[in-house]
Amino acid sequence: MSNRSKSNIRRLKNRIQDITNNISRLYSRTFRRTSTSAIDTVDIDLTRVGNVSVDAIGATESTRVGNVTEMSNLEIRDQYEDWTREYAQRNLKWLEDGVAHEKYVMDEKIDVWHIATEMFIFPALRQLLNDTLPNRTFVNGVEIGCGTVTFFDHLNIENPILVDLAPDYCTFMASKGWKVLNENIENLSIDSDSQDIVVCSETLNVVLSLETALKEVERILTPDGIFLVNVPWEFELAEYDGMLGSHLREFNEHNVEEKFPRWDILARGIIPQTVKPNGIPTINLILARSDVSSSN
Ligand SMILES: C[S@@+](CC[C@H](N)C(=O)[O-])C[C@H]1O[C@@H](n2cnc3c(N)ncnc32)[C@H](O)[C@@H]1O
Repeated sequence: MSNRSKSNIRRLKNRIQDITNNISRLYSRTFRRTSTSAIDTVDIDLTRVGNVSVDAIGATESTRVGNVTEMSNLEIRDQYEDWTREYAQRNLKWLEDGVAHEKYVMDEKIDVWHIATEMFIFPALRQLLNDTLPNRTFVNGVEIGCGTVTFFDHLNIENPILVDLAPDYCTFMASKGWKVLNENIENLSIDSDSQDIVVCSETLNVVLSLETALKEVERILTPDGIFLVNVPWEFELAEYDGMLGSHLREFNEHNVEEKFPRWDILARGIIPQTVKPNGIPTINLILARSDVSSSN
């Protein structure tokens, strides 16, 4: 074989190698999300969850454009992320246009969308934490699914980090000076055993896989770390228009222990519907890893 042919073959081989590398890079980026988990079909009643376009939110009749049970995991994940992103954009637009308070049926203008959490859930959670662990202080903490508000406005810690899946909420919170990560609770870049406190307000009810989310929280918490949670309480999904990105699972007296199988509930405080401007009953929970608290 001539030198020229040999060099042509070498060039061709290099080209094929480049193409293969590019394909595998693209593949790993595209499918990164699927490596996190399967959806908790046991935990979520998927037969009730419709896929509703964001334009339909707030309309009296919502448009069901397909059933989640017919979609693949990857399609569900994509739809979920799109929905979460669009919902955040819509809420922030309402804030920007100065009409968010009307959506919450309030007289005063508001500068955060998650006003009910800010007004009622966080003050009650702060009180519950004081009552349960009066002398406890925290250095590193993460709030996941912060939206437009954060518990770290109510609890001073040295190194707070906020996380949200919706990029626009991240930009909003970063503009207020917070350190923010645009990530999924199911796949966090935060170091293991690094956080003394993790907060999830009204987020575990919407995530696709509760099991994976809880495993991630367990991973990043120090062994004696504290997990603060708020979720809707004794609230039937059937009363709600089940939507991807919205309430996906119920928490009630019968299932709350099962939902947190590797956790001890140190304290709980119910916040009744009446105290929220536009709200549903919720519960604040203070959790600790059961493998640690039971061995103490
Ligand atoms: C119902 S809002 C709660 C906002 C605020 N924490 C509160 O209590 O009012 C749920 C928030 O979780 C975010 N979120 C949903 N799924 C998420 C996920 N898998 N990982 C991180 N954030 C997520 C949404 O973008 C949204 O900001």
